[in-house]
Amino acid sequence: MTDRGPIPDPNRLLSGHNSNEILPAYDSETAKSYVLFNMNSTAAVGPWGISYSGNLTPDDTGIGTWSEAQFLKAMKEGKYKGLEGSRPLLPPMPWQAYSQMPDEDLKAIFAYLKSIKPVENIVPAAKIAGM
Ligand code: HEM
Repeated sequence: MTDRGPIPDPNRLLSGHNSNEILPAYDSETAKSYVLFNMNSTAAVGPWGISYSGNLTPDDTGIGTWSEAQFLKAMKEGKYKGLEGSRPLLPPMPWQAYSQMPDEDLKAIFAYLKSIKPVENIVPAAKIAGM
């Protein structure tokens, strides 16, 4: 983040919230009325808890071991890791907005993601409100 807005970091393209980045403290009173993002826009605090953007690169810590079917399940049904029985994907991942995309388009996105530079990064586990 800069004083003119965000600048993409090509070395970390689509690799999700950096596991080395500790979130700064926030005012929990303010957080009751706002959705807060960290400066890198990789983590968000809201009524659902705290979510961290996923590693979508083809490393084993990302989607490297995912099948196309898993990706379609994540995007169309909002399932974490695209696995049956896993928890729902949290906001701000707008999966509901993508769920109507034709399979052909989702498959093209998956093929693109499998083609980018793998980045090793284990994204921290989400903190789900009330759990
Ligand atoms: C075409 C665009 C997008 C694609 C292909 C995509 C893909 C994905 C996938 C596959 C996951 C699941 C990762 C996993 O289970 O390990 C995910 C999670 C996530 N995405 Fe997206 N995403 C997109 C757009 C967005 C946007 C626009 C945002 C935020 C504004 C976002 C925020 C997140 C967050 C916070 C998570 C983690 C959710 C959780 O832990 O429950 N995504 N995304």
